[in-house]
Amino acid sequence: MTERTFSIIKPDATEKNLTGAVNAVIEAAGLRIVAQKRIKLSQAQAEKFYEIHNERPFFGELVEFMTRAPVVVQVLEGENAVARYREVMGATNPAQAAEGTIRKLYADSVGENSVHGSDSLDNARIEIAQFFTDDEIVG
Ligand code: CMP
Repeated sequence: MTERTFSIIKPDATEKNLTGAVNAVIEAAGLRIVAQKRIKLSQAQAEKFYEIHNERPFFGELVEFMTRAPVVVQVLEGENAVARYREVMGATNPAQAAEGTIRKLYADSVGENSVHGSDSLDNARIEIAQFFTDDEIVG
């Protein structure tokens, strides 16, 4: 089934000028970037986006990291895009990520792990709606 998922290229990757390199892996995996913009997340946007983690010990660190430099928010489209992108990203902890995945190639640590991808189709819809209007997505 053709799906859409939500992606963030995180500050560790944009700081290292890796936007194009990450996008090359995404596109080589057969996912189409149907919307994309570079933005600086506000503290409120980061706190809302990661609301589900607000009781975790790393929440403060996570919000600080996500707001320290620009991110690139994206909508990716393709066959089983949610699961496919999670494969392409690799495990949350780059030390456990498979060869060829974005996190294995580029990520520094479990916190600074280069990319985010939605974990379900429902969350993809919710996350896309936080950053994009329908007319910004050109499939
Ligand atoms: P993401 O997929 O964006 O969703 C939650 C994020 O929390 C995750 O990627 C990591 O960046 C971050 N995270 C998860 N576990 C830890 C941890 N143990 N320490 C710091 N950050 C973490």
